[in-house]
Amino acid sequence: MAAILVMTSAAQAPTARTLPFTAPWLLAPMEGVTEPCFRDLVLARNQPEHLGGTFTEFVRVHAAPVPRAIVRRHIGPARHPQPVGVQLMGNDLERLAATARNAVAAGAPLVDLNFGCPAKGAIAGCAGSALLKDPAALERVVRAVASAVSVPVSAKIRAGYDDASHVEELARAAEQGGAAMLTVHCRTRAEGYCREVDWTRIARAASAVSIPVCGNGGILTHGDFERLRRVTGARFAMVGRGALADPWIFSGRSVTRGEAARFLVDYAHLMRERKGWPGGGIAARVKQLLRYWTAGGLVESEEHRLAWLREQDGEALLGRLRALAAQA
Ligand SMILES: Cc1cc2nc3c(=O)[nH]c(=O)nc-3n(C[C@H](O)[C@H](O)[C@H](O)COP(=O)(O)O)c2cc1C
Repeated sequence: MAAILVMTSAAQAPTARTLPFTAPWLLAPMEGVTEPCFRDLVLARNQPEHLGGTFTEFVRVHAAPVPRAIVRRHIGPARHPQPVGVQLMGNDLERLAATARNAVAAGAPLVDLNFGCPAKGAIAGCAGSALLKDPAALERVVRAVASAVSVPVSAKIRAGYDDASHVEELARAAEQGGAAMLTVHCRTRAEGYCREVDWTRIARAASAVSIPVCGNGGILTHGDFERLRRVTGARFAMVGRGALADPWIFSGRSVTRGEAARFLVDYAHLMRERKGWPGGGIAARVKQLLRYWTAGGLVESEEHRLAWLREQDGEALLGRLRALAAQA
């Protein structure tokens, strides 16, 4: 199918910096979740006109540039019509630039920069959301990476560190550094992953810059994608945990209980095949999804969810899912 190419600026002709997404709805990077097994299953179940692209979990750039082979592992073995951008997190300009070049050599069509991670380790290393306190440093990071590679470089920020009063300044710093797209997770670092979201912060960022903005935070239903774009003026909308609840959220298709169970069975199978993990480790990852899961009525109530999560025997959990999958 023909890709919907989004220009980095309305006046520009298509260039290597053209954003490669096939639709305006994107799957968020999520460490410990959106590794290649999960991503591949979501990408395979959503047409390119519904799910426009996704990202690796963050790749931490710390003491040395991350080698090409490691980045390739984050990208995974499968190829899809939709792009998978490689997300980097760090603050050392040269190591980030070198890792971005390695990512492109490993096949990355896009490099994304993480300015949102609230983890203590990231902040102690002055990376992730720590850079929200210093827009000039954020701009330098974007510029160093955008100058190092010819593919588009995007930046993913939170609306602020302690409060959202500087979201316009942060957006402009990313734009001036050369970002081809800016994702705004509308919660501040201080707000963590709270339930309430304020999409006006995304609208403020979108009004402050001319690069495309991707709005993120609190998308829970298929209809929310368009609602977010409509009320904020963002060109793209990105979902995180809503896709863990329902991997079909991009198309809005209602799946059967069997299809829902099949997803989790396939996930377990792929992890066993590719990672060689034991049943217990695999069941823990499946439970991580079941914590959020709503698709296909597989989780009938919060009590039922607890029953799934309390199952101690990993093989028994997977056996129950296989039995439900066979009903489809
Ligand atoms: C388990 C988990 C891991 C995450 N890991 C990353 C990450 O690696 N990189 C990143 O930029 N954001 C990460 N995030 C933030 C999400 O990309 C997204 O911005 C956030 O969940 C808000 O979107 P939502 O309200 O749709 O979940 C993570 C979020 C969760 C819940």
